[in-house]
Amino acid sequence: MTDECRKIMRVLSGETLSPPPLWLMRQAGRYLPEYRETRAKAGSFLDLCYSPDHAVEVTLQPIRRYGFDAAILFSDILVIPDGLKRNVRFTEGHGPEMDPIDEAGILALKPDGVIAHLAPVMETVRRLRQDLPAETTLLGFCGAPWTVATYMIAGHGTPDQAPARLFAYRHPKAFEHLLMLLADISASYLVAQIDAGADAVQIFDSWAGVLGEREFEAFAVKPVARMIASVKAQRPQARIIAFAKGAGYQLKTYRQKTGADAIGLDWSVPLAFARELQQEGPIQGNLDPMRVVAGGKALEDGIDDILQHLGHGPLIFNLGHGITPQADPTNVSALVERVRGWRGR
Ligand code: CP3
Repeated sequence: MTDECRKIMRVLSGETLSPPPLWLMRQAGRYLPEYRETRAKAGSFLDLCYSPDHAVEVTLQPIRRYGFDAAILFSDILVIPDGLKRNVRFTEGHGPEMDPIDEAGILALKPDGVIAHLAPVMETVRRLRQDLPAETTLLGFCGAPWTVATYMIAGHGTPDQAPARLFAYRHPKAFEHLLMLLADISASYLVAQIDAGADAVQIFDSWAGVLGEREFEAFAVKPVARMIASVKAQRPQARIIAFAKGAGYQLKTYRQKTGADAIGLDWSVPLAFARELQQEGPIQGNLDPMRVVAGGKALEDGIDDILQHLGHGPLIFNLGHGITPQADPTNVSALVERVRGWRGR
């Protein structure tokens, strides 16, 4: 019944809606002045993630402004390593940092207690489901094991994930152990979010694009397939979006191999290939976030191309990666208006 009024849930079940429903990755964030204000009040970034009052507020901000069809829980993929006591911190201008992990550290990881540590996140989800309009889909999320592991091994973000790739070649057993441990914790975390009121969940594999063929299979497909099988075994009604950024041609079999209901596409995916993927089920994407920064014709052309090529099948309109802090909030209004004004031609 509620799924009937939640457009994104309908698309996740395979329906085509015209115009397509939309939300934007990182829709709550620094491009919004009201986010910067709450962020300043909250203290540290992790304090913001673990304060249900503040996290609910920043999740709702983009819904109030733009009326997106989905709200995404405000949190971060790195709350899992934080729960694993890796000393995660977000310092201004540095991006995320944590203690880099080695083989011995991996074998010493204790998954018990991680979900209890994340209780404030589940409280945020519960309050959001109460506060959101009935027609707004509430999305939970987590990082994919590979992407989370890249930060755990390097101890910070890197451009090409060389430290994690090297570690995986040198210590295949320990690396496999880390991925499977993250897969199991993340599956429990997604189930807890669903039980708290999330309608659907997204798995972010933001660094899938640096993997070779074998590694994509072993590090991206296998752990995500394990997570999705586990979530669906526990909660058969769960709907799952899997976003493997930069995966290119490997996306051809990604949905079928992982069991995801919908796949997220970045802006490098050609629209003709995206349409092929859409024959197999719902897709989400894939506007270049820089078009939102540029605005004007660049924004309009990018939106129109996606709608013309992909608007006649099951589509959740989104960016191909998160919106950036430089985006002008007025351009986001223009985007929403243009997508909502599309009349199927
Ligand atoms: O609105 C939303 O999408 C919900 C919130 C959300 C955040 N991070 C908030 C955030 C989500 C879904 C994420 C996911 C996330 N976090 C990913 C996967 C998606 C992606 O963007 O690739 C990754 C890799 C991370 C790890 C992370 N968190 C990084 C690398 C950074 C620093 C880079 C940056 O953009 O500053 C963060 C910090 C972060 N997470 C911010 C926000 C709003 C900015 C921090 C701040 O406000 O000071």
